[in-house]
Amino acid sequence: MKSKLHCAVFSAVLLISASGSFAQMKSKEAGLDKTIDGIIKKLTLEEKIGMLHANGIFSTAGVGRLGIPGLITDDGPLGVREDVKEGWGSANLTTDSATFFPNGSALAATWNPALAYRMGHDMGEEARERKKYVMLAPAFNICRVPLCGRTYEYYSEDPYLNSRLAVAAVQGMQSQDIAACVKHYAVNNQEIERNSVSVDIDERALREIYLPAFKAAITEGHAWTIMSAYNKLRGVYCSENDYLLNKILRDEWKFKGIVISDWGGTHSTVNAANNGLDIEMGSRPPYNTYHFADKLLDSVKAGKVSEKVIDDKVRRVLWVIYHTSMAANPPAGKINTPEHSKTVYDVAAESIVLLKNDKHLLPLHASSLKSIAVIGDNATHTFHLGGFGAGVKAKYEVTPLAALQSKLGSRITINYAQGYSGVYHTFRRDTSKKKDIIDTAKIQEAVAAAKKSDMAILFIGGNRDYESEGADRKDLGLPFHEQELVDAVTAVNLNTIVVVIGGAPYDIGKIKQNNHTIVWSWYNGSENGNALVDVLLGKVNPSGKLPFTLPAELKDSPAIALNAYPGENHKVEYKEGILVGYRWFDSKKIEPMYCFGYGLSYTDFQYADLKSAFPAYKNKPNINLVLTLNLKNTGKYAGKETVQLYISKQGSAIQRAEKELKGFKKVQVLAGQSSKIQFIVPVESLAYYDVKTSKWVVEPGKYEILAGSSSRDIRAKTTITIN
Ligand code: BGC
Repeated sequence: MKSKLHCAVFSAVLLISASGSFAQMKSKEAGLDKTIDGIIKKLTLEEKIGMLHANGIFSTAGVGRLGIPGLITDDGPLGVREDVKEGWGSANLTTDSATFFPNGSALAATWNPALAYRMGHDMGEEARERKKYVMLAPAFNICRVPLCGRTYEYYSEDPYLNSRLAVAAVQGMQSQDIAACVKHYAVNNQEIERNSVSVDIDERALREIYLPAFKAAITEGHAWTIMSAYNKLRGVYCSENDYLLNKILRDEWKFKGIVISDWGGTHSTVNAANNGLDIEMGSRPPYNTYHFADKLLDSVKAGKVSEKVIDDKVRRVLWVIYHTSMAANPPAGKINTPEHSKTVYDVAAESIVLLKNDKHLLPLHASSLKSIAVIGDNATHTFHLGGFGAGVKAKYEVTPLAALQSKLGSRITINYAQGYSGVYHTFRRDTSKKKDIIDTAKIQEAVAAAKKSDMAILFIGGNRDYESEGADRKDLGLPFHEQELVDAVTAVNLNTIVVVIGGAPYDIGKIKQNNHTIVWSWYNGSENGNALVDVLLGKVNPSGKLPFTLPAELKDSPAIALNAYPGENHKVEYKEGILVGYRWFDSKKIEPMYCFGYGLSYTDFQYADLKSAFPAYKNKPNINLVLTLNLKNTGKYAGKETVQLYISKQGSAIQRAEKELKGFKKVQVLAGQSSKIQFIVPVESLAYYDVKTSKWVVEPGKYEILAGSSSRDIRAKTTITIN
């Protein structure tokens, strides 16, 4: 009788969330706390513990007698992954295909939070249809080292750009009653020794560079769950780090949701339980041997972990179940819809970066072409699977070759040659020399195709085996002898376009020097080929901007220059402090190959009249700088431009980066037209983190405001004063 009553109580509460908007739900929260307390009273200690650890690769136990569902989580950043069985093998289902969304750095290259929202929203709909209620996404660790194997999953090297995208992605996903699990908290910036490395970082860099996007995702995006990272911070595993989990996340940011460990990333029972971890996840049975299973039960019984601590965790789990409407039969979602494909297409189209177009070969003048040589494994490679957690069994994926054939094949002869084989067997990046032998026959085939064609388009770069979770790349060199291929093809066809597909920086210095036309694209989801070809044809004017610096040489990037990667004896010191990415290159006056924020268009934009509404502003909460700028499209094509707003503190008493991104706006302007753009920048956002007082401090004095088309192409300036 009792259990039935509670089942009914719980379901009734949950039904509220299924039917109401988020705002309505919020107003019901007061009553919710009481209801949840009531439910907790009915749970046995064993039942509570069962809710706090994995009972399957992606799930935890519920409590059937009270109608409490277990959590069902799933990866991840690129879409709802395929189902797997114990041991990670494919479950071989026919019902688990999904939309493959562009990778994280592709999304970041759009500089478009509205697209991040749509992507989160659509992924949420797909998760609902697949009955996954906690999506292990988005992932947005800062790109500290260009070699990091997960750079493609993450967004960018800048905390502000990351923050804006993270907030939008979380809000989009949670609008579908699917919890976002933002990851990996925190300073998980390399894959080498990720399970043991301890990050030694000064507090200012932690606060200014590595935490802002997490903070924004929690305090503005209201993410319901967060994943603790594998690594240690200052000697303590992130999954048992009181400072990160209790002090910062809960006390400072008022996080009410669940901290979920990364898979297999829990290392203790009592410490983890008392220091803020809620749920231990992992994929290796037997699950009762987990730190948060029988051992946790014993620790409570022995008085080492109080039952109140357990109740708090269960309370948070119930709170998330309620918010996701998991137990209330949420309405079916949607999967593989044309709308989702459109989102993928729009993100992909806006992510592609035009790096070089010296001969104006692009957009292609297709009507004057009779033949095109399409060369390179990446013209036919698909990118949906691979990379551990980020694989999606795509319903479909249009490759560049398929798109070229369908859009041009009826009137233009397409001569395809593979050029190289993009097979990358070894997970640890140590391909044996044997596998690394250059395939001259393939190169000769490519040369022959290029010779007999009006032009050649080369598709090179990485792939999802080469860039992957669990390992960093050894260097930035192009894999698979692609450079030799580019050299050989370029030598026989002057009209060669190079398209680099990758999720992280590569050394394309020689291509920059020798080739006139370079396009950068990404692991761009199910619509990869369609978006790319539409950019080449000018149906889409490219508007992507690099979300990270492409260094001229690896040794120029800060962590490498300072010998602060990958660390020694399982310790890595972030010696560069706040000077990450362009902050380092600008401050040290090092010329990168292509700078942060760089990207060309088929049209030109003129920046004028950057003005501040006031010459001076008070340093007070809720005071904003109000800045305006005129942007004119002076070229022949309509196009989108991302205007980037940087600030530079003049005569600072402390070390500051030469410039810091504080705003950006992406706008569409028709040819010959102008657009007036307004930026509202909170004065508070000019602050630095003062380690001595543990406070954010806005220095008084002059600040230069810089509006640029990239971090190094500043086209308008003005100065303001903070009193
Ligand atoms: C990754 C997480 C992922 C989890 C589950 C871990 O190895 O670090 O990002 O969500 O596996 O697949």
